[in-house]
Amino acid sequence: MKTVVLERNEIYTGSLILVNAEYPLRSTPTDLAPAVTGFADISMERCAVEQLQLILDEIGAGNMIVPVSGYRSKAEQTAIYENSLKQNGPDFTQKYVALPDHSEHQTGLAIDLALNTDNIDFIRPDFPYSGICEEFRKAAPEFGFIERYPAGKENITGIAHEPWHFRYVGFPHSMIIAEKEFTLEEYTEYIKSFRQECPLSYSHKGIAAEIFYAPAETEISVNNAVCQVSGNNTDGFVVTLWGYKNA
Ligand code: DAL
Ligand code: ZN
Repeated sequence: MKTVVLERNEIYTGSLILVNAEYPLRSTPTDLAPAVTGFADISMERCAVEQLQLILDEIGAGNMIVPVSGYRSKAEQTAIYENSLKQNGPDFTQKYVALPDHSEHQTGLAIDLALNTDNIDFIRPDFPYSGICEEFRKAAPEFGFIERYPAGKENITGIAHEPWHFRYVGFPHSMIIAEKEFTLEEYTEYIKSFRQECPLSYSHKGIAAEIFYAPAETEISVNNAVCQVSGNNTDGFVVTLWGYKNA
C-alpha cells in the first residue's frame, strides 16, 4: 500500500492556500513566469500562467484583456498600501488593498485583469460583467481560476467586490467553488467535512476525482491514484485523488 505523510510545515504551500486578513502568507512562490506574453514585468506561478493562457486562447481574447498586476513582493505590496493610504484614504484602502503578507498577490497565484482601454486604473481596473471579460469569467473555472472577491461576500472575504481579481486554485476545486458560489474561505471550511473515509466525489468529462481534508501530521493512502496535495495555510491539507479506485 502506498502512503503519503503530510508534514505540518507543508501546510503553507500549494494552490489552495487561503491568504486573507486572518491567515498571512508564510511561503514564497517558487516558479514565477511572465503571466502573459509581452508583459514581462507581470508574473505568476508557472502552473497558473499555463492555464491563464489556455483561457485567453479559448475565448479568443487577443489583446482585448490585459494583465495589470500579478505577483507582488512584500515590499511592493507595502508600497501599494502606503501610496493608497495617502492618495485614497484609509476606508478605500482597507476595502481594496490587503495588508502586506495578507495579499494573495504575494502568493503568485492571483492576477488583476483589465479590459484593454486607455487609462487603466491600477487598483480598480475595469473588468465588466459583459463582453470578452464575462467570457473570461465564465471560462475561468474550467482552467482552475475563480473570481476571488464576489459581491455580497465582503463580510467573508474582508475585501470589497473586485470583478478584476482572479485567483488560481486549480481544477476541479475552481469548478466546485463556482458551482456552489463559494468564496475560498467557504470552500476551505466545506472541504473539512470530507475525510478520506467519506470524500467529496467530483467527475467531469469522464474523469473522476475524490477530494478530502487531512489534518497536518496524518498519513493518507493513495492506492492506484494520481495524488495532488495542497496545504490550506490554516491547519491542514486538501487532497485530490484522480481516477481513484479502491485496491
Ligand atoms: N486587492 C487585493 C485585495 C490585494 O491587495 O491583495
Ligand atoms: Zn488583485
